[in-house]
Amino acid sequence: MHTIRVHAEHDYDVVIGCDWRQSLSQLLAPYTRVAVVFSSAMRDRVKDAQSHDSEIHYFEVADGESAKSSASLHSLWNWLGAAGFTRSDVIVGVGGGTITDLAGFAAASWLRGVNWIAVPTTLAGMVDAAIGGKTGINSDYGKNLIGAFHSPQKVLIDTSWLSTLSDRDFAAGLAEVIKTGFIADDEILKAISGKKITDIRHDESTVLDLITRSVAVKAHVVGGDFKESFNREILNYGHTLAHAIEIDSKYELRHGEAVSIGLVFAAELAGVKSLLDTSIIDMHRQILSQAGLPTTYPAAKWQKLYPLLALDKKARGHQLRFVALTAIGQVIRIEDANESELTRAYERISS
Ligand code: GLY
Repeated sequence: MHTIRVHAEHDYDVVIGCDWRQSLSQLLAPYTRVAVVFSSAMRDRVKDAQSHDSEIHYFEVADGESAKSSASLHSLWNWLGAAGFTRSDVIVGVGGGTITDLAGFAAASWLRGVNWIAVPTTLAGMVDAAIGGKTGINSDYGKNLIGAFHSPQKVLIDTSWLSTLSDRDFAAGLAEVIKTGFIADDEILKAISGKKITDIRHDESTVLDLITRSVAVKAHVVGGDFKESFNREILNYGHTLAHAIEIDSKYELRHGEAVSIGLVFAAELAGVKSLLDTSIIDMHRQILSQAGLPTTYPAAKWQKLYPLLALDKKARGHQLRFVALTAIGQVIRIEDANESELTRAYERISS
């Protein structure tokens, strides 16, 4: 078991390699009521959460991006109200990023803030979504546009959940791990490079190492800039185009799949501006495609994607801003990309 501390509005631990049921039952004692907000795909494994002293209530949410709708949040608020949830109660989010984002935002907003615990069940949740206190839902205008920074009391990472994932979902999580490698930890790239998804996921110690390294980077970045005034933006490497692709694909693509395409685009943009060596751009394509992730998107989609880039949270006024690399681990912002440069970068990733 490995514990990594995150410094935020309050400090909390991410416990990696635990038995989530055991760890959770130890945490629940101080609370009168517990709301377990869980993804329907996990129903059989979740309903046996145990507590000797607290009343446990279960709120099931359908999987997928629809979990992060205002309708879903509204039903959760009503359910908390009907069950009489007070400030001495706790919300536990058990599921992928959509569920922990929803549960965390319900915790941020219910009674102006109650405690919550994150139990991520996907690789993407373990290495990214459940860490760092970003909670929220989507708006019709874009992903995560409504939300709050509200850190959990604890993040419990039990890697046995990973056996429930398809290779496609595992690969989608790996996209965030690979992103972390490019922005901050070359060892991650070395551990993944040249390996197929099945080799990676069946190598338990590599998986634990990849999760631990990714969480360590995220904890470090979040600890230095919890509310994303600047440095935390580096975690959004590849995400500007990715969010536009997610909207365009109506969330048919997994977040990680869109991030994979967005990472190659960001690398190509740095290439267009002569900031990044071709060998590192090629490395993006190679590692991501070997992991079974997409790296291209249809050429005809650019007309639709380009205006969507303006909804990125990093944009300031009319100025688009991109996280980019000049080398592995050397992160910069591109704040002066013009339409023709962006179009050229997109041409290089389009199919
Ligand atoms: N997923 C990016 C962040 O937490 O800042």
